[in-house]
Amino acid sequence: MSEMMKALHRRRTTSRHIYKIALFGATGKTGSLFLEKALRNNHTITCFVRNKEKLERQVSKYKREVKERAKQYLTIIECDIFDPAAVGKGLSGINVVLSTLNFHRRNNKGWNIDLYQKWMKMIVEVMAERDVFNIIALMSWYTDDKGSEIKGGLSGCGARFFLRHLIGHVLEDMNAAVEVLEKSENLHWNTIHAPGLRKGDRLEKTIISNASDRVQAIIDKYPFYKTRYHTMRFADVACYLLDVIENKVNLPENRKIAISYQHNLAEPEFNTL
Ligand SMILES: NC(=O)c1ccc[n+]([C@@H]2O[C@H](COP(=O)([O-])OP(=O)(O)OC[C@H]3O[C@@H](n4cnc5c(N)ncnc54)[C@H](OP(=O)(O)O)[C@@H]3O)[C@@H](O)[C@H]2O)c1
Repeated sequence: MSEMMKALHRRRTTSRHIYKIALFGATGKTGSLFLEKALRNNHTITCFVRNKEKLERQVSKYKREVKERAKQYLTIIECDIFDPAAVGKGLSGINVVLSTLNFHRRNNKGWNIDLYQKWMKMIVEVMAERDVFNIIALMSWYTDDKGSEIKGGLSGCGARFFLRHLIGHVLEDMNAAVEVLEKSENLHWNTIHAPGLRKGDRLEKTIISNASDRVQAIIDKYPFYKTRYHTMRFADVACYLLDVIENKVNLPENRKIAISYQHNLAEPEFNTL
């Protein structure tokens, strides 16, 4: 069991064997699915959102038994999620912070692409003040250098172009956010890096996790690389995040983790954990 999970176990509320989870990004595609599943599993959730009504509407569409649980176990805090004072008030007694935030340009104005690192700096400081020690953040593709070292024909060229020119600015911001975690003290953290995500029911395929980038390995092995080798369902990722919190998945602590399905073409050797 990782140190992070040992710490979670020590801190969980023993009466109902559940965790107190602070969720950021609850109104998003992954966050909304995570929230529903976490309520089903009897966890207590505090959601920090910028629009309470939006989350209330979302919860009203959950199944009846989940809505009933929400009445008791869901707290919604409407605030500026970058405001340490507002966030701090809701963090007391929390076991683990989960971010499924997505600072896309379509939902955030401004020229600077720095919201991941800004938010991470803020939350790390507030967690230290409130004695909260565990954080998990869902992020995009695992790459330290925007894929600039990727080699290999057309597939390699396509992956390089995508990672550098289409999402490179976001990856840089995310990597800076990871650096904030790496420099932090006394925190148990994992960033979970998913490739492209799609809507739809769970595929319930085995999810493999690596503490390193898998893109080059797949391109090397399969020159006719297709994005479907990487693409996952939001629903599966939401469940995976809950599995990590519930200690059903054992991850090395304080590491970036790349996840993907174990598809027919992927060999077990890719799973380096
Ligand atoms: N979508 C993909 O294809 C994909 C692929 C790979 C990895 N990922 C990663 O997975 C994570 C979650 O992505 P997603 O697609 O599930 O997210 P999403 O559906 O785009 O939702 C984003 C969430 O972040 C919240 N948010 C954004 N800016 C905010 C702000 N300034 N203040 C407060 N809340 C804010 C949104 O709140 P509002 O509802 O108020 O806007 C929403 O709850 C991200 O890190 C993303 O990079 C996504």
